[in-house]
Amino acid sequence: MSHSDPVNVLLVDDQPAKLLSYQVILEPLGETLLTATSARDALGHLLKQDVAVALIDVHMPELDGFELAAMIREHPRFQQLPLIFISAIHLSEFDRLKGYEAGGVDYVPVPVVPEVLRAKVKAFAELHRKTRELESLNAELERRVAERTADLETSHAELRRLNEELEARVEERTREREAALSQLFEAQKVDTIGQLTGGVAHDFNNLLMAMMGSLELLQKRIGGDATAERLLETARKGAERGAGLTQRLLAFARRQELRPAAVSFPDLMMDLQALFRSTLGPSIAIEERVPQVLPPVLADANQLELALMNLALNARDAMPSGGTLTISARPEDHTGERSEVGLSVGSYVRISVIDTGQGMDAETLARATEPFFTTKGVGKGTGLGLSMVHGLAAQSGGALAIRSAPGKGCQVDLILPVAREAMAPPVAESKGPPIERSLTILVVDDDPLVCGGTAAMLEDLGHAVIEANSAVEALERLDRGPDIELVITDHAMPGMTGSDLARAIREKRPDLPIILSSGYADLPHVDTTTDLPRLSKPFLQADLAMAIARHYRPSVIRAAEPSPDA
Ligand SMILES: Nc1ncnc2c1ncn2[C@@H]1O[C@H](COP(=O)(O)OP(=O)(O)OP(=O)(O)O)[C@@H](O)[C@H]1O
Ligand SMILES: [Mg+2]
Repeated sequence: MSHSDPVNVLLVDDQPAKLLSYQVILEPLGETLLTATSARDALGHLLKQDVAVALIDVHMPELDGFELAAMIREHPRFQQLPLIFISAIHLSEFDRLKGYEAGGVDYVPVPVVPEVLRAKVKAFAELHRKTRELESLNAELERRVAERTADLETSHAELRRLNEELEARVEERTREREAALSQLFEAQKVDTIGQLTGGVAHDFNNLLMAMMGSLELLQKRIGGDATAERLLETARKGAERGAGLTQRLLAFARRQELRPAAVSFPDLMMDLQALFRSTLGPSIAIEERVPQVLPPVLADANQLELALMNLALNARDAMPSGGTLTISARPEDHTGERSEVGLSVGSYVRISVIDTGQGMDAETLARATEPFFTTKGVGKGTGLGLSMVHGLAAQSGGALAIRSAPGKGCQVDLILPVAREAMAPPVAESKGPPIERSLTILVVDDDPLVCGGTAAMLEDLGHAVIEANSAVEALERLDRGPDIELVITDHAMPGMTGSDLARAIREKRPDLPIILSSGYADLPHVDTTTDLPRLSKPFLQADLAMAIARHYRPSVIRAAEPSPDA
């Protein structure tokens, strides 16, 4: 209702003529005038519409105005209805009516003065309009408060939800960070152990070299003494086992000499099948899920075979009462977003070795790739299997991922990079005729023990040997003695490496054959000298003789003839 809307004014009188006169008087107010000639009519109007004020003639022959007023007041809805009585003065009655609490009551004396009546009705009509207006404003206000409250509740709920989401994300990030940190810590630890192990293994390898070389030479001199032969044989076997161990240590330390090439995993599996079958025994089923078409991986085929054998052996040990070994492979790309254990962007092949064995608890899993960590008891496991696989994966630019839980088996994923361009197969080494002539050989090794050992073996083969303990010394010797016909050099030497030395020699004497002997390569991936013939440490005298026969260029052999029993 707006403040200009007319309100209802009820006029009650049993004489129509009087009603008419009131109508005439009140017409100018512009309100809606309702008329009633009986109490019934009056109540009917009141019940049907909202009346602002009722005008009641007290002196009606058939109806007592006060009685009507009393009836109206009884009704709870009309207790507030303002009443105007038209009457001669009856103060006592009027005072009684004043006792009605809430409703306004007024009085217009007879004869009615039109201005007075109009003024009074107008006042009540205005009051009514203002009251309604206030009521509607109030209702509007309440509605808006309710609306705001609802809005607030919604935004509060939203805030709570956001807060919970934030908390969950903070928690997740914290977990991720902790995992990354512990992974980093683990990697650093393994790295440190790797450096230590690598250093020790390198020295150890050289010692074994010297031992094996000397033992071999000794064996030739004690001919006939059976006991001495047996003792020597035992010593030699011990040294050989030591050499095997150093190989695994170097593999773990990622310092083994790798010859990465494009390897077809399906082909490799074909070759390995029989070996797997016999290793695993009849109680373990082998399931192969290797697609026939798979991009070749960049890895050292021999080392990869060894790694797979190690994994198969672990699986066998975890399934003492039988089970299934599954080998699968699939290509996958790493975009760098969610890349596993820090793989760089690129294409890889994921090789999975899955067993249904006893699995590992979290503690074992965390330490599984640590070198020397084993749960297999003294004499049974060396704890170097997984660390070798881990080392191979890392050195090949890939990664290792192990998933396992007690009673849930174990899945080991070896992720290897795809060989990019079609790699040339390793150059087949030509089998040259054995040398029958004495050569002058320059032996270079920073370890005097190894240098001497190699020299002794060569001298035993009938060659003349010049020793040098560094690349610089070797170059000096070469300048002084142009009679040198072959160089056998260690690779890993302080200052100038064997590869550096080879490059320097090539500049001066491009025809001089060089053999690189190494227990490990520092940077096997970027080694630009892979075309150099190699000899892996530790080597036996026969390996040495064979290497010389293969790599000493036949064109410069003057008196060589193939011998029938070589
Ligand atoms: N497939 C597997 N299921 C359950 N546990 C395993 C599995 N592979 C490895 N492990 C656990 O990880 C440890 C380390 O394995 P790793 O291959 O490095 O050494 P090892 O097998 O104990 O000894 P080695 O390989 O030198 O014979 C094992 O002793 C074993 O507890
Ligand atoms: Mg093992």
